[in-house]
Amino acid sequence: MTATTGTFSLGDKSVEMPVKTGTIGPSVVDIGKLYGQTGMFTYDPGFTSTASCESQITYIDGDEGILLYRGYPIEQIAEKGDFLETCYLLLYGELPTRVQKSDFDYRITRHTMVHEQMARFFGGLRRDSHPMAVLCASVGALSAFYHDSTDITDPSQRMVASLRLIAKMPTLAAMAYKYSIGQPFMYPKNDLDYCSNFLRMCFAVPCEDYKINPILTRALDRIFILHADHEQNASTSTVRLAGSSGANPFACIAAGVACLWGPAHGGANEAALKMLLDIGTVENIPKYIARAKDKNDPFRLMGFGHRVYKNYDPRAKIMQRTCHEVLNELGLKDDPLLSVAIELERIALSDEYFIEKKLYPNIDFYSGITLKAMGFPLSMFTVLFAVARTSGWIAQWKEMIEDPGQKIGRPRQLYTGAARRDYRAIAER
Ligand code: SDX
Repeated sequence: MTATTGTFSLGDKSVEMPVKTGTIGPSVVDIGKLYGQTGMFTYDPGFTSTASCESQITYIDGDEGILLYRGYPIEQIAEKGDFLETCYLLLYGELPTRVQKSDFDYRITRHTMVHEQMARFFGGLRRDSHPMAVLCASVGALSAFYHDSTDITDPSQRMVASLRLIAKMPTLAAMAYKYSIGQPFMYPKNDLDYCSNFLRMCFAVPCEDYKINPILTRALDRIFILHADHEQNASTSTVRLAGSSGANPFACIAAGVACLWGPAHGGANEAALKMLLDIGTVENIPKYIARAKDKNDPFRLMGFGHRVYKNYDPRAKIMQRTCHEVLNELGLKDDPLLSVAIELERIALSDEYFIEKKLYPNIDFYSGITLKAMGFPLSMFTVLFAVARTSGWIAQWKEMIEDPGQKIGRPRQLYTGAARRDYRAIAER
């Protein structure tokens, strides 16, 4: 990183502030001393022009549709790597050697079981609870079981907690699904890879052997890679802010799960599929396009648009290809939902409104169709997003904790409420 100085005039004041330049991407103006020098704050609700931290993990160029994990293009990692290798890369910063990969896989595999008491924890919840509510609760509850890895000042405990979270999220996600359909929990099997293990925990029953489908395993692994990290998105920023207070990593990830649930963020895959089901047929598409353009209608095309990508989300292209692979493998290539999705995308990409506002399909547009074809109910889509994103959340949390300049996040505000006034007795109101 290099630094120069910028001079900024604010009314009758002129202030000098450092301008920092990273490896690639926009430079930043370090406004840390702005309030002290001018008595003013900056104002940027939604943080559209604000860098909250320095990071070396993920780089996005929204105009060019570029996504890099530790410098490696998402297209290459999705094609040539696997999800646990991606977790290692995000956590440690380099691709693992064969020995490092084998050791990491071994350690993750042997943390996949959860404390047996967790089974009773689920029992206290309603069967028809939304799996994201169950996941929020159960991830937070992990901190009640693993006190030996909550001291964030101890690097070894930080790493054990990171491994536990990456390893146990699939188990908790599968338990949330099994609980919602009244089937018994399936224990992880140490002789299976990460995604085969997860699919078996979700779809196997004790009454018969479960047949692994390598096409579906590979597809799910690629979906997890695509969802692993994405710079300082809403849920990652939530994890960083929670972690900045010293909260334990299990509590921080539970906060990330809660934020991801929103339909404008991770909940968009569930919302996008519900929208496709509501549209139902190609003939209905124009009506929904008109609603999306109507300023008086809150309806938005779920799975379209992005805060950063003002070009095609690079993950969406890979997701679209994976969707076709899965539907072909399952003999569903004529799925009417896919026909609606393809026609909706074609119309939207040629429509002036969407072109002018740079609204392209994002990763959530095709993921829902794929996950539904694999047998997951809509309510599990964001849960799977959370399973994958845990690797990015924990890598970003670790980077923040290990930053020597780290301090508690504490934004200020523009106050527009009542100025000081005296209390009036109720008789005088
Ligand atoms: C994810 O941040 C990340 O990296 C997130 C994520 C990750 O990996 O972590 O990529 C995952 O969350 C992907 C996004 C999933 N969300 C959706 O698909 C929900 C639908 N999309 C929109 O809600 C919206 O596009 C957002 C929330 C994603 C982005 O919103 P912004 O950047 O705040 O932009 P905006 O809402 O101000 O929209 C700009 C304009 C507006 O019109 P004007 O007010 O300027 O006239 O575009 C319009 C919006 O009305 N618009 C849409 C639209 N999205 C934006 N109009 C119709 N349909 C849409 N989907």
